[in-house]
Amino acid sequence: MSLTRDFFIALSKNQLLNSGAKKWGLKLGAGKMVAGTDIDSMMKSVKKLNDDGISATIDNLGEFVFSKEEATEAKQHIIETMEAIHAYEVDAHMSVKLTQVGLDVDQEFCLDNMREILTIAAKYEMFVNIDMEDYAHLQPTLDVLYALMEDFSNVGTVIQAYLYRSEKDLERLKNVRLRLVKGAYKEIEEVAFQSKQEIDENYLKLIKIHLLDPGFTSIATHDHRIINEVKKFVKEHNISNDRFEFQMLYGFRTELQKELAAEGYAFTTYVPFGQDWYGYYMRRLAERPQNINLALRGLVSK
Ligand code: FDA
Repeated sequence: MSLTRDFFIALSKNQLLNSGAKKWGLKLGAGKMVAGTDIDSMMKSVKKLNDDGISATIDNLGEFVFSKEEATEAKQHIIETMEAIHAYEVDAHMSVKLTQVGLDVDQEFCLDNMREILTIAAKYEMFVNIDMEDYAHLQPTLDVLYALMEDFSNVGTVIQAYLYRSEKDLERLKNVRLRLVKGAYKEIEEVAFQSKQEIDENYLKLIKIHLLDPGFTSIATHDHRIINEVKKFVKEHNISNDRFEFQMLYGFRTELQKELAAEGYAFTTYVPFGQDWYGYYMRRLAERPQNINLALRGLVSK
C-alpha cells in the first residue's frame, strides 16, 4: 500500500512525464478527476455543480515552474480564469499554488504576482486560497501569506494535519479562512505523523480548534467518519452553517457531495483543469490505490 503510494508520488514528480502529458490531452482516466483542459469545458462542470447548490474552487493546474517566463504565463492563466469566473457568473473562487507563480524562482517576484492576482480578485469580490505544497515550501508559503495579509483580506491557505507544527501555525491564523486537510505529500517522521490514526486524531483536533476560532473553516476530506464527527461537533457547539463548509475533490464521492449540499451544508468542490494534469492525477492515485482501476481502464480504452 505504502509502496504503491511512494511509486505514484515518484511518478508525479517525473518532469519528463509531466511535460509529455501536456501534449497528450486528458488520458489514463484523468478526465474523471480533471474538469477538462480549457476554460469552456471546466465552466460547464462548474455550472453543473452550481445547479446542485455546490460552489467551486478552481485550480488552473501547473507544476515545475522554474523560470520567470513560466511563472508570468501561469499568473496570466490564473487571471484569465478569474475573469472567466466573473464573466460566466458562476459561484466559484480560485485556488493557487505559489510554486506556480514563482516561489521557486524568487520569493519577492512571487509576492508581486500574488499581489496582482489578489488585486483583481478583490475587484470581483473573490477569495483566493493558497494551496499548501510539500514541507520544503511550507515556511516560504506562510511568509508570502503573512506579507499579503497586511494588504488583503481575500486570501487564505491550507493547514495539513500530518505536520507536527500545524497546531502552532493555527494560532497565528485564527482569523483567517483556512482549508484543513490531512496532507497529500510524503513527509519524513522528523516533521510529520506517519500513522493514519495519529493523522486522523490531529486532523479532528485542528478542525475543532479552528471551528471555535473566528476564521472560516473549510473541512476538505472524503472521509465520512471525519465528516460525521464534524456534524456532531457543530451541533453541540451551535456553530452555524455559514461559519464552515465541507470540500471534496472533483470526481470524488459525487453522491455524498450532493447529499451534504442538499442537507444544507455549505459545500465547495475543488475543480482542477488545464493541460498540466499529470502530477495532480498521479498524487490522487497515490492517495487512493482503488483509483488505479480508473487509470488502467483509461489505458485499455484509449
Ligand atoms: P483518506 O484518504 O484518509 O480516506 C479516509 C477514508 O475515507 C477511506 O478509508 C475511505 O473509507 C473513505 N474514502 C476516501 N476517499 C473515498 C472515495 N473516493 N470513495 C469512497 N470512500 C472514500 N493536500 C495538501 O497537502 N495540500 C492541499 O492544498 C490540499 N488541498 C485539498 C483540497 C481539497 C478540496 C481536498 C478534498 C483535499 C486536498 N488535499 C490537499 C489532499 C488531502 O491532504 C488528502 O491527501 C486527501 O484529501 C485524502 O485524504 P482524505 O481526508 O480524503 O481521507
